[in-house]
Amino acid sequence: MPSGREVRVVAGTTLLEATREAGLPIATACGANQLCALCGLEILEGEAGLVAETDEEAHIKELNRVDAELRLSCQLEVTADLVVRARYW
Ligand code: FES
Repeated sequence: MPSGREVRVVAGTTLLEATREAGLPIATACGANQLCALCGLEILEGEAGLVAETDEEAHIKELNRVDAELRLSCQLEVTADLVVRARYW
């Protein structure tokens, strides 16, 4: 959201890869190595179907002063139907 674009992906695809497949730009500065937290996305729907946040993910967000509610899309595998939003889209 708010583009309304949809994409179907295979299991194991990260949320970052899925958004790129949908043609939506996601900021990154670490090469998807869970360092920069710029790839944080807000999960609007479907969060219950995702793996829980790890301590490392929470720590990286805290270090980078990123909102704790966001999920790091470069590390998060898509395991459910999701509706997401980047706060800069
Ligand atoms: S791209 Fe840097 S933490 Fe995800």
